[in-house]
Amino acid sequence: MHLAAFVTAGPGRPGGWRYPDSVPGWLGAEYYQNIARTLEDGRFDLAFFADILSVPDRFGSSTDSQLRNGALGSLRLDPLHVLTSMGAVTKHLGLAATVSTTYAQPFTVARSFATLDHLTAGRAAWNVVTSFQESEARNFNRDEQFPREKRYERADEFLEVAGKLWDSWEDDALVLDAQAPLFAEPSKVHAIDHKGEWFTVQGPLNVPRPPQGYPVVIQAGASAKGKDFAARWSDVIFCSHASLESAQDFYREIKERAAAHGRDPRQVKILPSIAPVVGPTTEVARQTADLLFDLVPPLGGLSTLAYHLDVDLSTFPLDERLPDVEVPGVEGHYREVREITEREGLTLRELGKQYGGRVEGGFVGTGADVADGLEQWFTEGACDGFMVQAPYQPGGFEDFTRQVVPELQKRGLFRTEYEGATLRENLGLHRSEAGEWSNRAPKQPSAAK
Ligand SMILES: Cc1cc2nc3c(=O)[nH]c(=O)nc-3n(C[C@H](O)[C@H](O)[C@H](O)COP(=O)(O)O)c2cc1C
Repeated sequence: MHLAAFVTAGPGRPGGWRYPDSVPGWLGAEYYQNIARTLEDGRFDLAFFADILSVPDRFGSSTDSQLRNGALGSLRLDPLHVLTSMGAVTKHLGLAATVSTTYAQPFTVARSFATLDHLTAGRAAWNVVTSFQESEARNFNRDEQFPREKRYERADEFLEVAGKLWDSWEDDALVLDAQAPLFAEPSKVHAIDHKGEWFTVQGPLNVPRPPQGYPVVIQAGASAKGKDFAARWSDVIFCSHASLESAQDFYREIKERAAAHGRDPRQVKILPSIAPVVGPTTEVARQTADLLFDLVPPLGGLSTLAYHLDVDLSTFPLDERLPDVEVPGVEGHYREVREITEREGLTLRELGKQYGGRVEGGFVGTGADVADGLEQWFTEGACDGFMVQAPYQPGGFEDFTRQVVPELQKRGLFRTEYEGATLRENLGLHRSEAGEWSNRAPKQPSAAK
């Protein structure tokens, strides 16, 4: 079983920052370094940081509900800098940052992740997102977003270019022969001369090939286009599900898609997100979950749902059910909330609270109770592991590490020591050979913009 931690460089889950044991240290390196040490003690594969490039204003065309409620998009530090500080105090923990292919440039991103991979001796991972907020577009010279189709076309070319840049130094190009002198062998460092629909990049990169070949690539696309993209490029796929059954369906589908792209399905790891609440007794865990739920302001949850769906939910009556809507944002989250709304007959107000404070996967209890649930999902074909959210930071990670991890280890489901030197090795993924990504780019050139 593999474990990733969903860490937020900001207040995290709605309401979590109001929990009495929550520590509001988001603006200091020490806060993240302590979390990194906790996760490494728990032998987590990686720490993952989501990201967004705006303060969302999708609820009532205002940032008010995000800021007032400390909702998920209210405050976010730049994850790459946060990861560098965590890398400095750990030796094994993988470090994953979200960077958007829609608003960044391949040279900068390839360089940043190659740098992080070198600085941490092979522990870097990139969560590739295509972004889905109009408010993000407005921070990058545009009035509106590119349509989803175009965002994914750009992302395909972006990854193709990044791969070429990482390959632009052959593995043994850096010689460091002071006598000769031969610092780097010029015949082993290549321009890439890429000219495509979206990018023109000469290369080479000014950083040698990363220790992992390519950093680990993570993706969480939920539309048909997104799932296809993920199956083509990703080493790790994040998802969220409201039931074991939908997780099993997704797992089967993605593994089939990966095989259809000529990949070994075992080289694609699927990690659903969970938000367990753990306590010394089942009773205490339930009380904690209830308190955390009480602390979620419904408009904080709704404002986050509005930005995830990219739909202004302030236009619907709060005491009626969410009607069917067109979702320009995350289809997977929409499927999930429809399932919850129908199953539990929730009004929009109740859904806001649920969305902010629900215990994803329903894992509440002692370490053994939670381990039972995780074992079931893992052994019944729903996942290769989990992306663990803490109901509040940083204590939620400490609870999980001290109470759930030992149970998983006792059952032989989870490592007691890191197996490998790099994140790829710990995830059971092979090191990427130069040129490997050329086969993954779509065969058809992108259509004109
Ligand atoms: C667990 C999870 C985490 C995600 N994290 C981010 C994120 O940090 N930033 C972001 O822009 N999108 C994030 N997304 C959204 C996805 O990357 C993707 O853009 C979204 O699911 C829309 O995909 P689609 O266009 O295929 O529907 C996340 C999605 C999931 C399920």
